[in-house]
Amino acid sequence: MLFDLTKEQQQLRDTAREFADKILKPNAQGYDEREEYPRENIEKLADLGFLGIIIPEEFGGGGHRAVALAIALEEINRGCASTGVTISVHNSLLANPLLYFGTPEQRQRYLPRLASGEWLGAYAISEPNHGSDAAAIETACRKKGDRYYVTGRKAWITNGSKAHVYIVFATLDAALGAKGICAFIVERTFSGFSVGKKEKKLGIRASDTVELIFEEMEVPAENLLSASGEGFKVAMHTLDGGRIGIATQAIGIAQACLDESKKFAAERKRFGKPLYKSQAFGHRIADMALEIEAARMLTLRAALLKDQEKPHTAEASMAKLYASEAANRAAREAIAIHGGAGARRSQVVERLFRDAKITEIYEGTSEIQRLVIARHALQDRLQ
Ligand code: CAA
Repeated sequence: MLFDLTKEQQQLRDTAREFADKILKPNAQGYDEREEYPRENIEKLADLGFLGIIIPEEFGGGGHRAVALAIALEEINRGCASTGVTISVHNSLLANPLLYFGTPEQRQRYLPRLASGEWLGAYAISEPNHGSDAAAIETACRKKGDRYYVTGRKAWITNGSKAHVYIVFATLDAALGAKGICAFIVERTFSGFSVGKKEKKLGIRASDTVELIFEEMEVPAENLLSASGEGFKVAMHTLDGGRIGIATQAIGIAQACLDESKKFAAERKRFGKPLYKSQAFGHRIADMALEIEAARMLTLRAALLKDQEKPHTAEASMAKLYASEAANRAAREAIAIHGGAGARRSQVVERLFRDAKITEIYEGTSEIQRLVIARHALQDRLQ
């Protein structure tokens, strides 16, 4: 490991690792099969402080930063990726922008509740007709007196039916594109807010993914996050951090693929000798181990740049792109190593295979990450 972890970071990692092995791994399969939100996992992680990892101690959080969050999230995701994305979205997509863009009053109202886990957070930008082209959102907002009125639908919202507070993006005028977008802090009790249909998904099945519906939803003007028309920058800056979170998820999944493959090979014989002694198996394990380590380096580097308050947009995209593709390769290899057993629905690697695919889609598809990296590379803006 190139990065020397501080004592606090090591403690956080060890706590997450132990929790992943003792609580998450044994229960992940059941939650996935039942497509059930892992409420108990989240409550226990809240008690351990994982919902407030990056929230300053003055608000009741752990006072850690992006590198620590990345290390903790990798462990949690190794145990259960559905639990991992719940924690990642809460920290990276809700607590992080409140910390960065929030007024003192907004921080005071929300951060203590988020840190303790009393409130869960979500981030609402995607819509039924607009995912990758985030500046094209149609959810509309208009100001009247001391309130904004927001009308529209959001889709694919992680934590959507369980959260208490959301960052919602809406446009003052769709013709303005990115420059017309506002970011709002929305509480689920606001009049005009409702939860729509729940999605049935390929992978990450135990996380909560729903539509949100806003009908003339009333948002007090003081709940505008950042200035009017600056919401797209809030969205993009926030996703820079979120993508580091999904990269850690992919690494956790890939590491679980490697762990399961080693376990299977230790117990299995093929052609008269233990599977782990065959060269074909060794090559597969070598590639997995190599790619996991490379993904970890890219991800920790992006997190370190974030902690140093340096630009990290392309670096976060590189981490997410590489780690998610590595996780999919690792999952394919893990299935191949398991042979027929890998295709059985009760097998851990079958779940990991489905979960890995989602990391290439949410918080920006692989095509979007390549677009971001290319724009930065062409303008010599890489760190
Ligand atoms: N930080 C700050 N500002 C940024 C920025 C960043 N990372 N990226 C862009 N901006 C600013 C630009 O500087 C520009 O501002 P100026 O006009 O003042 O210069 C403005 O935002 C517009 O930028 P672009 O011209 O680059 O915008 P674009 O329309 O070409 O879109 C995009 C860029 C990268 C394709 C963007 O639309 C995108 O990231 N799309 C993918 C959306 C996505 O990832 N969705 C995930 C949904 S959330 C989710 O999945 C969560 C979950 O539940 C798990």
